[in-house]
Amino acid sequence: MSSLYTLQAGDIEQRRGVLRAMPRLAGLGAPLRELAVTAWVSAWLASTHDSLEEMPYSLQAPDYSLLDHTNEVADAGILLADYARARWGANFDRDVLLASLLLHDIDKALLYTRINGAVVSDPARAGLPHGVLGAMLLKEAGLPDSVVTLVGTHTTTSPVKTGDAEAWILHYADLFACDHAFRLAPGTTPFFQRT
Ligand SMILES: [Fe+2]
Ligand SMILES: [Fe+2]
Repeated sequence: MSSLYTLQAGDIEQRRGVLRAMPRLAGLGAPLRELAVTAWVSAWLASTHDSLEEMPYSLQAPDYSLLDHTNEVADAGILLADYARARWGANFDRDVLLASLLLHDIDKALLYTRINGAVVSDPARAGLPHGVLGAMLLKEAGLPDSVVTLVGTHTTTSPVKTGDAEAWILHYADLFACDHAFRLAPGTTPFFQRT
């Protein structure tokens, strides 16, 4: 068995728990929604976190929850996409955009753990960068290549970015929500204040 993750459908209560924790999952078409739920159940059950709520967002904002960040990125991304569509006539694949917003940080469930209460990198997954592990999991879970690519390249340090409108929206929704968490974290400089 891999120490990175194993795909698991989970039981009905675990799947309902994921849907309750991320309400915008309900906005995905049924086949994609079920794949996204299986991906989140897999990341959760393979992680060291007992509950979805315990998953931390970042080493730089360890008190912020991954669920809150994920839901905030999804909310902000939908707002931005609606504006871009109405104002500029931008076109999006709604399912691809929503899936990438909800899944972009899925590997953070695996990359971080707690030791003596402190959030630290999980040594079992230390060899893979954020984004890459998530893309691997999503590809194996059967998500479309477009979602796999968006998740695999969404980080600010990614050497490549697609020019797709979905990548544009994901980037700004993610940084907007991220900087909210970073502004609350003592000693962490938000992206917008970095020089
Ligand atoms: Fe990320
Ligand atoms: Fe994020």
